[in-house]
Order: sequence, then C-alpha cells, then structure tokens
Amino acid sequence: MAKPKVFVTRIIPDRGLKRILDHTDATVWQDDLPPPRAVLLERAHDCDGLVTLLTDKVDGELFDAAPHLKVVANYAVGFDNIDVMAATQRGIPVTNTPGVLTETTADLAFTLLMTAARRIAEGRDYAKSGQWKTWGPMLLLGQDIYGATLGIAGIGRIGFAVARRARGFNMRILYHDAVRNERAESELGARFVSKQELLAQSDFLSLHVPLAPDTRHFIDQAALAAMKPNAVLVNTSRGPVVDTMALYEALKARRIFAAALDVTDPEPLPADHPLYTLDNALIVPHIASASFETRNRMAEIAADNLLAGLAGQVPPNCLNPDIFKK
Ligand code: DGY
Repeated sequence: MAKPKVFVTRIIPDRGLKRILDHTDATVWQDDLPPPRAVLLERAHDCDGLVTLLTDKVDGELFDAAPHLKVVANYAVGFDNIDVMAATQRGIPVTNTPGVLTETTADLAFTLLMTAARRIAEGRDYAKSGQWKTWGPMLLLGQDIYGATLGIAGIGRIGFAVARRARGFNMRILYHDAVRNERAESELGARFVSKQELLAQSDFLSLHVPLAPDTRHFIDQAALAAMKPNAVLVNTSRGPVVDTMALYEALKARRIFAAALDVTDPEPLPADHPLYTLDNALIVPHIASASFETRNRMAEIAADNLLAGLAGQVPPNCLNPDIFKK
C-alpha cells in the first residue's frame, strides 16, 4: 500500500522527523524561511498530512486546497496560526505540542526577567566595548528580584512553572486569569487579583495568556501607564498581546524600567525597528522552547499526532476532538 503523502514545512529535529520519514512519503521544506503561501497551497494539494509551524497560516483556504487532508500536526503549543473552527467544519483534526515545552519556556521567561532586571545585556556590551575603566558605585544599577512581587497574567502550565521558579527567590506572587487557580494559590501562595491590581502591584509582570481577540493588546498604553516605574515586563506568549508602539513610548519615556521580549509584533521585528534603539528593551528571537531536548520532544509529539491522524485515530493532542464523535 502506498504510504500517505505528507508535507513538513521546515526541517524539524531528528527524533520526530525520522519517524515521519520512516512511516510516510514525506517532503520536507529545506529552506530556513517558511514556504511562501502559494507554495504551501500547491504542496498541500495531494497531501494526506501536514506538519506546520507557527509561521504557517493554516486556514480554510489551505484546507480547501488540500482535498485529501486527514490531519494537521502543528509543531508548537500555541495555535493562533490555525483556524480551528475552519478545520472542525471540514472534519480535519488539528493538533499541537503541549506539556513538553513548559519548563523550558518558563526557564527562558525567568532568564529574561533576571537579564532585564540586572541589565546583563547592557553590562556585556559595556565591558566588551572597552568602556569598563573602574568599579562604579552608580554603574548599571538594576532591580532586585529577591523578595519582589511577580505578576503572572495567565496561570496555565507555563505561567504556573514561572511562578514556581519565583518561589525560590522568595517573590510574592500575584496572578490574573479568567478563572481562579486553586493549585497556584495553595501550592505557591499565589494571590488572585484583578488586572488593574496586577498592573499596579507587580515589580515583574510575565505574560502567559494565549493570543485571542480578547488578549490582543492586553498590554496597551493604559496598562503600561498603570504599571510601576520600576516594573519589568516579560513577554514569552505572543507578540500582539502587547501593543508594540505603546511599549516603545513607555520604555523611551522610562515609564517602566524595562521590557524583555521573546515574541514581538510584528515578528520578526525588523532590524530598523525603534525598539532596538532602547537600552531597556531586551529582544530575543522567539527562542523560549529552543533547547535540544525540548525541540526534539516537540518533534516526537508532532510525529505521534501526525501518524495517529493519518491512521484515522484521535491524535493524542487533538484541538478539535469533537469531530470524532460525529
Ligand atoms: C509555541 O510552541 O507555541 C512556542 O511559541 C514555540 O515553541
């Protein structure tokens, strides 16, 4: 029997890719940049399965261009690039890679928090550029982490893991979410607060809400104005959760102390973007899950999801399992 046809939109780590190549007739896009839209639509045409990335738009147009499609395995936990409803309407299972990247992403969020608070990037540049002439009482003063208040916006798996790290620094933990998280309250001593209180009291504010219409610009000009002047904003969720130009203005005017961003809007942030001109903006290129082990585990999960979907089974991380009930 012919193997199912699959298009993988970028090279993913071996542990998952090998399984996909062993069990399917897969084509892997070799370029560093995502396939252009027209190419994706064309390649999808005779595919039974797709392995997509957060840089690929997976929507009704793509589903309609792929009449044989049985499953889409997204290589990410976030799935704002997928129109899940359009998939559901067409009976196509779509999947993500939850769980395996929680701790690695939390590590990066905490790294960003500490790096921005203690001005590590500025210190590195200062030393490297030959400006370091003596020890200075006023040199590169930053914010204390130990004992400070950490605000978590969205206490799902990753927000929880960041809060758990904060306990080791004796931080006071506040959180805001659509629903109360009793486990965070009992295990971490986290306190549920309104968004306004979160903004007003946090020394560090770490964003972990998914991108949805109601979280777009969750941090806007008004939110930034409500934050403490010593506050550090950390975003490892999705770029559009923050209004980029409002953040630029707030950082430039020193209305908050610093921001550390793993995700941006637009993404990638163009090299001539004004945010790069600010010392108090720390920007890294969406690398929160980028450890060897985690990216391999994400690839294994994507492969599991893909192969299950191709076999007509409910994939382990199906985002629209109801389609199997019909
Ligand atoms: C995700 O998985 O959603 C991250 O943003 C990338 O790993």
